Amino acid sequence: MNKLIINGGVPISGMVRAAGSKNAVLPILAGTLLADGVTQIRNIPHLHDVTTTMELLGRMGVQLTIGEKMCIEVDSSKIENTFAPYELVKTMRASILVLGPLLARHGSAEVSLPGGCAIGARPVNLHLMGLEAMGADISVEEGYIRAKADRLKGAQIVMDQVSVTGTENLMMAAALAEGISVIENAAREPEVVDLADFINAMGGKIKGAGTDTITIEGVERLQGCDYSVLPDRIETGTYLVAAAITGGKVLVKDTNPQLLDAVLAKLEEAGAIIDTGDDWIELDMEGRKPESVNIRTAPYPAFPTDMQAQFCALNAVAAGTGSVTETVFENRFMHIQEMVRMGADIHLEGNTAIIKGVNNLNAAPVMATDLRASASLILAGLVAQGETVVERIYHIDRGYDHIEEKLACLGARIRRTTN
Ligand code: EPZ
Repeated sequence: MNKLIINGGVPISGMVRAAGSKNAVLPILAGTLLADGVTQIRNIPHLHDVTTTMELLGRMGVQLTIGEKMCIEVDSSKIENTFAPYELVKTMRASILVLGPLLARHGSAEVSLPGGCAIGARPVNLHLMGLEAMGADISVEEGYIRAKADRLKGAQIVMDQVSVTGTENLMMAAALAEGISVIENAAREPEVVDLADFINAMGGKIKGAGTDTITIEGVERLQGCDYSVLPDRIETGTYLVAAAITGGKVLVKDTNPQLLDAVLAKLEEAGAIIDTGDDWIELDMEGRKPESVNIRTAPYPAFPTDMQAQFCALNAVAAGTGSVTETVFENRFMHIQEMVRMGADIHLEGNTAIIKGVNNLNAAPVMATDLRASASLILAGLVAQGETVVERIYHIDRGYDHIEEKLACLGARIRRTTN
């Protein structure tokens, strides 16, 4: 079982390049199913979830060719089946994103229900509600979603709750539906905008992405295109917190500061000096400890839930007491008990963690439970005294591109073992 071994106490300093966004590339790869031609997708991050998605598409008969410099050529002009098996979907919930495109382009889909995961039940009722509103005939039997539609019809859809992949699935389905669809209470995340831009590059007619009302005029066909995925704002934020928690100085390149307003504001509140350019962000902690900050997660543009665990690690060693309230997922504090084992002073009050900063954390063997919890335990290990061993790091490999190499280049004493 892979583990990461970290000897903490070294300030994280230097330059790191952000990879393409996991949460943009997954819907975009699913979106290639809409095209009746070849698409080139660039700035692909090296992640296990990307590999899983490529396997899922490959099993449908999609031709995928890995090109030079993180580029994939996708030819979905002829596919053999519209089946997404449980054995793949259970490892990556985002597989649900093939449902909309398959229905829209091929009129049928059989997709395993994604189970829950460590952070919550993760239902997909909003995805199914929207597709039914567009005329799909959907049944859920033996753990599979079976959907059929001669041709989807545009519909007015109000999302009961803001859902990122729910918005994305319905936007993709509407792109080839007959007539106009409007999605209200839509997710505003940058990754939703990136998917809309990708579909428009294929000839789609989507307006309003990035606002809470998205209008999609269905077209007859979508052709291939050449598209570069936007930078990963959560990976960027994770490296910025690594410098903030260790008193270091880091320059993140190939990123976009405009995607991280809420996170940068909280880092400045914690005492970091932040400078930005078009495609870079520099954080300097000048050797100081961070100040505690209060966080409340919510849909974009508010503070992202995917940065919540990382800020728990920051507050754990900050001066003062900070509160972290999680409003998006019902069980996204699995990292707290592991940090307490490292000496953190944290107690939970409902969906709020009250974190009293301590002078230092002590290394310990800890267990990763989900992607961002893994990242937060690595951050805690970077500042803890002694050797921290993070187990079950297959979680981290799903969403971070070469994390130990990038941290080692920034001065961290970190290595992977396979025993
Ligand atoms: C996306 O998940 C991201 N994943 C998550 O990132 C991210 O944490 C989340 O959005 C919130 O920003 C991808 O984009 C691949 P939601 P998603 O639908 O779309 C409830 C990471 O670490 N809900 O916006 O699955 C749901 O239970 C991952 O990179 C329903 O009730 O999240 C949750 O409470 C983790 N019914 C809330 O809405 C539905 O049909 C928001 O979930 C759909 C969602």
